[in-house]
Amino acid sequence: MHTLIIGSGFVGSALAQRIVDAADEAILASRNPPDLAFPWTPLDVTDPDACAKAIESTHCDSVVLVHGPSDVTWCNEHSGEAVRAHETAARNIADVAGARRIVMISTDNVFDGTDPAPAEDTPTNPTNAYGIAKLAAEQAIGQAPNSTTLRVSLIYGWEPADSTKWLNFFASCAHRLIAGEPIRERRHDIYLIDYRLGARTGRSNQAF
Ligand SMILES: NC(=O)c1ccc[n+]([C@@H]2O[C@H](COP(=O)([O-])OP(=O)(O)OC[C@H]3O[C@@H](n4cnc5c(N)ncnc54)[C@H](OP(=O)(O)O)[C@@H]3O)[C@@H](O)[C@H]2O)c1
Repeated sequence: MHTLIIGSGFVGSALAQRIVDAADEAILASRNPPDLAFPWTPLDVTDPDACAKAIESTHCDSVVLVHGPSDVTWCNEHSGEAVRAHETAARNIADVAGARRIVMISTDNVFDGTDPAPAEDTPTNPTNAYGIAKLAAEQAIGQAPNSTTLRVSLIYGWEPADSTKWLNFFASCAHRLIAGEPIRERRHDIYLIDYRLGARTGRSNQAF
């Protein structure tokens, strides 16, 4: 099995490692080369021609969509751009993937948060631009004949302190503790067990 992973950031690179550990092949794709040892190909997933070429040239059997923008605050501040990026990308891949298996990593931000344990049939009602963008992408990818969407909650794991992106909560706490800085959450206390429970879906292990 040869998997094209679109998005070579926190989640995409962890997924590539899992695939390689399982003795399968993974190739990462993003606009900029990641500082990683995995095979990589340049791709702007919002470019339809580039998507067609990437699918052909990598000879992939399956595609995982796990690209950005992933920062909820950035998406709220650039809502049009966020929706265009996620929806266009999903449509592009749905158009060229053919019968290949597609997995898209979505988010529980497609819900409004009133149900503490939303299920597949819980009505969607995103309350932020990130959730709106990902829901639009879900609908676009659903047009492909062989797609699966995972509505994943919070993911935590190690990220380097000098990462140019936002850090997940666990990594950001770890770096603050290493630096001897206090950890403050402005709105309410967050305990790691709660954070882990927030990620419960039973669908996958979301801690890398
Ligand atoms: N992290 C979480 O807790 C979490 C939870 C639920 C869902 N997700 C979803 O998982 C996805 C990835 O999250 P992440 O935390 O791994 O994000 P991340 O670390 O910010 O990585 C995003 C990756 O996407 C690439 N990318 C951005 N725009 C692109 C484009 N137009 N074409 C190709 N590649 C592009 C970026 O590289 P370049 O900028 O070089 O292109 C980067 O490699 C997001 O869609 C997010 O909604 C994440």
